[in-house]
Amino acid sequence: MVDGATIDEAVAEARQSLAGAAGAWSVPVLLRSTAPPAFVGSPRTLGPEDNPHNLPGMDRRLISRERESTDLLRLVSKEGNRLVTITGAGGIGKSRLSLHVGKQLLFDFPDGVWMVECEIVAGRDELYATIAAAVGLHRFEGSAQEALFAYLRDRRLLLLLDCYEGLQVAGEAGAIERLLEAAPQVSAIVTSRSILGLASEVTYPLQSLGFDEQDPESGSVRLFFEFAAVNGKITVQDRQLASQICCLLEGVPLAIILAASRIPILSLAELLELIKKSACHCCTEGLEVLARLSRSLCP
Ligand SMILES: Nc1ncnc2c1ncn2[C@@H]1O[C@H](COP(=O)(O)OP(=O)(O)O)[C@@H](O)[C@H]1O
Ligand SMILES: [Mg+2]
Repeated sequence: MVDGATIDEAVAEARQSLAGAAGAWSVPVLLRSTAPPAFVGSPRTLGPEDNPHNLPGMDRRLISRERESTDLLRLVSKEGNRLVTITGAGGIGKSRLSLHVGKQLLFDFPDGVWMVECEIVAGRDELYATIAAAVGLHRFEGSAQEALFAYLRDRRLLLLLDCYEGLQVAGEAGAIERLLEAAPQVSAIVTSRSILGLASEVTYPLQSLGFDEQDPESGSVRLFFEFAAVNGKITVQDRQLASQICCLLEGVPLAIILAASRIPILSLAELLELIKKSACHCCTEGLEVLARLSRSLCP
């Protein structure tokens, strides 16, 4: 199982995630909140006292990413940027990180933090209807846009728009910018494989987890052992093998999780050999290799 999904589901997700490529540039900041919320420092868990939200609970802890979380909290909270896009390749950890940051920001947004799944949203009207449903606006007269903009006008909340790249492909990326103009106390963290190219956008290109053959304690190795069903003590040699596997997979979390889920069906040495044989030296191919591996092991 990978985050509640079977290995085949995870592979399908990996493939889908890899359909596009990541961009990584940066653009000027225009939209800022008039009153930036206070900076939130250390990670925390959700409690009943929190502001409203629809964020799912996480079975497993976030590995590494302390610096990235701090950067994003600073961008949204301290600097008050209202549209921050986390960009990066499929499987690199954008959604996971945005959820984590959204939870840390709950105290800053009295009207809550709302995750909006945009993967199958086709256009602007559907986006506004989907956001309306996510924030709890189910009954309204007229268009979803009118109702949503009126509802959000005086509210202070954070939207997490996940998998926004489809709207960009549809030429509708600007829909979020229009919403933010109509709702001056609303902020958004967007995840997308590529930059949206909006004037008000601040981009945060997300890199792989740390990996290094010489570092048996890297973020990648820690993620690997979080998901590998290793019984008993993890030896120094295990860590060295895992470091090599993680290097071949270039620190891409989804690839690492898929690989780790093969343990103990395969030994670490066998897994390393299989990945090496497939001669993959970039993460995209790395995931393909794991997809093939998975098919041969789970027919
Ligand atoms: N730092 C991390 N710690 C633990 N799990 C992670 C981490 N980063 C990503 N994951 C897991 O890796 C998988 C892929 O991450 P995800 O956020 O869905 O990638 P993306 O949104 O970039 O496609 C998910 O199962 C996610 O929970
Ligand atoms: Mg995602």
